[in-house]
Amino acid sequence: MRKLVAGNWKMNGTRADLSELQAIVQAHPAPGVDIVICPPATLLFQAAQMTAGHAPDIGAQDCHPAASGAHTGDISAPMIADTGATAVIVGHSERRETYNETNDLIHAKASAAHASGLIAIICVGETLAERDAGQTLQVIGDQLAGSTPDGATSTNTVIAYEPVWAIGTGKIPTLDQIGEVHDFIREFLTARLESAALDLRILYGGSVKPTNAAEIFAVPNVDGALVGGASLSNADFTPIIKALEATF
Ligand code: 13P
Repeated sequence: MRKLVAGNWKMNGTRADLSELQAIVQAHPAPGVDIVICPPATLLFQAAQMTAGHAPDIGAQDCHPAASGAHTGDISAPMIADTGATAVIVGHSERRETYNETNDLIHAKASAAHASGLIAIICVGETLAERDAGQTLQVIGDQLAGSTPDGATSTNTVIAYEPVWAIGTGKIPTLDQIGEVHDFIREFLTARLESAALDLRILYGGSVKPTNAAEIFAVPNVDGALVGGASLSNADFTPIIKALEATF
């Protein structure tokens, strides 16, 4: 399995910030891992052009489940594919929370991504209240069951485990806690999906930094990271990529 570092720029970045993307391109002429950058939708086309034929690949941060129609402000999976992007994040906790996105909706978005040939990066993760109540694995299991299409395979789907309380906070779970959830996700996927999903990549996300990346990547069943803040600059992102490359 080829490991993966994905960067989620969230609502950050104008054209001037494509200089950071250019720096990432130059820093990784032949990376030993897959790299995906997910800039805001306004930059998708230019980012895809800038990286054509090189790493990183480009992804979007969300898509509508329909291919087209009267959905003001939304962007469909075929539109994302048309920019040259090859992936899309679905079910990020910021969208689950702010827009009340349900597992059913995320399932539909992931299916739409697959239908357009995009890799769906499906996010799951518990809140601090859920963790404190001992519900973490139950919550993750429900999210996975509800939002992962039956047709998910290791080539069209990536799962990102992002504890809500670790996002943007500088806090991360213990390595044992990360390992427990990643093992659970692996077992869950193995039991539920076809053999084509056996080596589906499971990323950890939430306050991944150059300083903690190596220890997180050493945890079994952690196949890479989904990085927020530290993906905005090549200076922070490249050491995370190097830490993953150093794991094999
Ligand atoms: P941070 O790396 O900024 O904590 O964000 C993680 C995240 O939400 C990536 O999708």
